[in-house]
Amino acid sequence: MRALVVDPSAPEAVRLTEIAEPVATGDEVLVEVRQAALNYGDLNDARSGRVPPGAVLGSDVAGVVLRSGPTGPPPGTRVVALAQGAFAEQVVVDLGALAEVPATVGLVQAAALPVAGVAALRSLRASGAVLGRRVLITGASGGVGRFAVRLASMAGAHVIASVGQVERGIGLEELGADKVVVGLNGIDAPVDVVLDSVGGPQLVAAWQLLAPDGSLQSIGWTSGEPAVFPPYSTIGPPKSLTSFVIQGSVAAELADLVHLVESGALPVEIGWHGPLQRFADGATALRDRRVNGKAILDVADQPSAS
Ligand SMILES: NC(=O)c1ccc[n+]([C@@H]2O[C@H](COP(=O)([O-])OP(=O)(O)OC[C@H]3O[C@@H](n4cnc5c(N)ncnc54)[C@H](OP(=O)(O)O)[C@@H]3O)[C@@H](O)[C@H]2O)c1
Repeated sequence: MRALVVDPSAPEAVRLTEIAEPVATGDEVLVEVRQAALNYGDLNDARSGRVPPGAVLGSDVAGVVLRSGPTGPPPGTRVVALAQGAFAEQVVVDLGALAEVPATVGLVQAAALPVAGVAALRSLRASGAVLGRRVLITGASGGVGRFAVRLASMAGAHVIASVGQVERGIGLEELGADKVVVGLNGIDAPVDVVLDSVGGPQLVAAWQLLAPDGSLQSIGWTSGEPAVFPPYSTIGPPKSLTSFVIQGSVAAELADLVHLVESGALPVEIGWHGPLQRFADGATALRDRRVNGKAILDVADQPSAS
């Protein structure tokens, strides 16, 4: 089958090649991949060694079940999943990492949900009730950010969306942002919750904006810059900074996200869409901060109309 495998000597550290089809055992589910989302984390994984040379890259898939164990969804079921090795024509998925996709939800939209959607949903839930609270979302123009803006707004928060440039904020008010700011300029009162995916100096500045009893979830670090806390900036009334990573079963959250998309409550914004062989173009667009929302790769030769 065709797959994008990690190759540190290749320009984007990945190479399109032919490899053997994977084999599902026990309760695992074999999925024919139709679409896969390209995440910022995938770009890091290809270069950092987290996905080793020769292994298939990619985390987010939507497709159709080919084979499954006695308790899995039957062949033909449309599914979305968090899967290691998503950028291939077939992938093996754990039962705890997938959800069914109803016919009314497109597989292109579903593919966007696992990493970005689950990170947004889980980090928001970890922040406690946000009804009426001021929630600052950094990197709001990106995959995690756009889902987080919508979900926080749905939960009744006063949402402040931070972007790098004015034009990166397009569409965020329609998603539910009460205020769109460039950097952290123009935030005139403390915030109760921060969902941060930028890190570096912006994380430090966001920490300093946090009200007593406030909490900051550190989801990502796209800035790549160190965070230097001025002396005594961590001394004072209690507030918390919590590290975040997706782990354990994501089936319930994926099902919640699919349901929200199906009901029309959660729009899925696709900012770049192309075939697997144009991975490098998608990666460049993502790195250059030109993707508003998610980047999606068509993996099947004849992607489903949905
Ligand atoms: N911990 C976890 O489990 C988990 C899960 C999902 C994602 N993440 C991490 O969260 C971060 C965001 O992921 P994503 O999928 O939302 O990425 P994305 O779609 O590429 O969005 C990232 C956003 O970060 C902003 N940004 C600020 N400074 C940047 C810089 N120097 N370089 C690039 N972007 C910069 C960009 O917004 P502007 O252009 O408006 O500045 C961009 O929209 C990544 O670090 C990712 O690895 C972690």
